[in-house]
Amino acid sequence: IPTGPELFKPLRANAKGFDLTHTPTLASIEEARSPFHTHQWQAGPMLAGAAQPDETLKVSNPANPDDAVGTVSPASLADVATAIKSAQVWDAPLSERSDILRAVADLLEENYGEIFALLAREAGKGLPDCVAELREAVDFLHYYAAQATNMPPAGIFTCISPWNFPLAIFIGQVSAALAAGNAVLAKPAEQTPLVAALTVKLMHRAGVPQTALQLLPGGARIGAALTSDPSIGGVAFTGSTGTALRIRAAMAEHCAPGTPLIAETGGINAMIVDSTALPEQVVQSIVESGFQSAGQRCSALRCLYVQQDIAEDLVKMLIGAMQALNMGDPWHLSTDVGPVIDQTARKVITDHIEAARSEGRIMAELTAPQHGTFVAPTIIKIDGIADLDKEIFGPVLHIATFKGGQIDKVIDAINATGYGLTFGLHTRIDDRVQHVCERVEAGNLYVNRNQIGAIVGSQPFGGEGLSGTGPKAGGPNYLPRFAEPDVEVAEA
Ligand code: NAD
Ligand code: ALA
Repeated sequence: IPTGPELFKPLRANAKGFDLTHTPTLASIEEARSPFHTHQWQAGPMLAGAAQPDETLKVSNPANPDDAVGTVSPASLADVATAIKSAQVWDAPLSERSDILRAVADLLEENYGEIFALLAREAGKGLPDCVAELREAVDFLHYYAAQATNMPPAGIFTCISPWNFPLAIFIGQVSAALAAGNAVLAKPAEQTPLVAALTVKLMHRAGVPQTALQLLPGGARIGAALTSDPSIGGVAFTGSTGTALRIRAAMAEHCAPGTPLIAETGGINAMIVDSTALPEQVVQSIVESGFQSAGQRCSALRCLYVQQDIAEDLVKMLIGAMQALNMGDPWHLSTDVGPVIDQTARKVITDHIEAARSEGRIMAELTAPQHGTFVAPTIIKIDGIADLDKEIFGPVLHIATFKGGQIDKVIDAINATGYGLTFGLHTRIDDRVQHVCERVEAGNLYVNRNQIGAIVGSQPFGGEGLSGTGPKAGGPNYLPRFAEPDVEVAEA
C-alpha cells in the first residue's frame, strides 16, 4: 500500500454547488425539484440474481406524515444469500473504474432536482443541507476516482450507512470500495432507502456492473446478516457506536481473522469558548454547530463550555439568535430547522429534554410544530460534560461554565467521555490554540469557526476512541483500507 506523499496525489477541484443567495439560481432549483414535489418512489433489493423481498412498507415524510414519499420492499435473508453468491469483484481496468465513478458524479449533478426533492421529503433536509450533501457526494466520487491505484481488492465489501447523510455517506463508502475494485453489498438505513435506490440506479446507469454493486434495503436483521458471513472481505460502517460494537462482535465470531472493519460512529462533541473570543462569531458558530440539520450530525456540538466571565452576556445573545430560527417544512426556503428523522428519535430526544425540565435545567427552547416529528431547539444547563452519558442526536445544546485557570480540567473531562469526534475552540490567544489542540483527543478540531461540514480532500473526517476506528473519510489513508490487508499494492 503506498505511503507518504504517494497517497497525496494531485486530485481535483471540489464541486461548485449552488449559490443560494443568487435569485436566478434559486429559481432554477425550484424548477428542477418541483416535478418531484408529489412524486412517489419505489425501492427494493437490486441484486444480480432474482430478489425475493418479504413485504412492502410505506416511506413517509418526517415533516408531514400525510406526504407519501414512496414504498420500500426490504431485502430478505434469501436476498442476502443471493447477493453474496452473485457478487463479483469489479475487475475492469483502473482507469475505466475511475471514469465510471466520475460519470456517476456527473449523473448526480444532472439529477439534482430529483435528489433535492427526495432528500427533503425522505430525510427532512433543508435546501442548504441538500446542496452540501450533493457536493460532498460528488467530491467523494472524484476524490476516490483520482486516488485509486491498482490495489488488490478485499473481495466482497459490506457498506452500511446511516440516514443522516443518506446520499453522501452512502456514496462515500460505496465509491471507495468500488474504486478499490471490490464487489459491494450496500445496506442503507431503513429510514432512507429511496435516496439509496436512486443513487444505485444512477451508478448502474453510469456503468458500474450489477454484480459489483447490489443494494439490500432493510434494518438491523439484514445488516447483521451482511456482517456475519464468512465470505465477507470487509465492512465499512457509519452509524452509532452501539451498532459498531455489535458488528465488531459479529465479525469476530463469523468472519476470517483480520477482516477489516472501518467504523465511523457517534460523539459527544464539545466546544470551549474563552473570555477573549469574539461574541458575534461565537454565537453564529454555536447556532450552526448545534442546530443546523436539526442537530442530526455526528459532528454537531453537544456541550458548550463558556468561560464564566462572559457566560451571561453570551448566553443572552445566543438565545436571541436561537429565537430567530424558523422551524417548519424543510422544502420551504424560510425553514432553518426541520424535523428529526422519525418518532423513535423524537421520543428519545424529548425524554431527555423532559428529564432536564423536571430538574429545572431548561435555559431556553422554541416551540415545535405539532404535526410531523419536530423537536424544538433547546438549551439545557449542565455542570459539565460528565452529566451526558450518551449522544443526544437532535437540536439540544448543553451549556456549562468554567473559571479562568480551569481549562485543563475541562479538557480532561472532555477526553474522559471516551468519544473523540469533533471539537471547537474560540479564543484569541495563540498559545492557547496550540495548547488546547494538542491536548484534546478528537479527530477534527476547529478553531474560531463552526465544527460541522468537513470538506472532502481538505478536511478528512473521522474520530478516535468510541467515535471510530479511522481512517478518515475523504482523506489519503481511507482508500487503502478497502484493499486486501497485508498485500503489497502495485502502482498504477
Ligand atoms: P444506527 O447505528 O442505528 O444505524 C446505522 C446503520 O446500521 C443502519 O443502516 C442500520 O440499519 C444498521 N444496523 C443497525 N443494527 C445493525 C446490526 N446489528 N448489524 C448491522 N447493521 C445494523 O445509526 P443511525 O441512527 O442510522 O445514525 C445516527 C448515528 O450515526 C449517530 O450516532 C451518529 O453520530 C452516527 N454518524 C456518524 C458519522 C461519522 O462519520 N462518524 C456520520 C454520520 C452519522
Ligand atoms: N462530515 C459531516 C460533518 O463534518 C458529518 O458535519
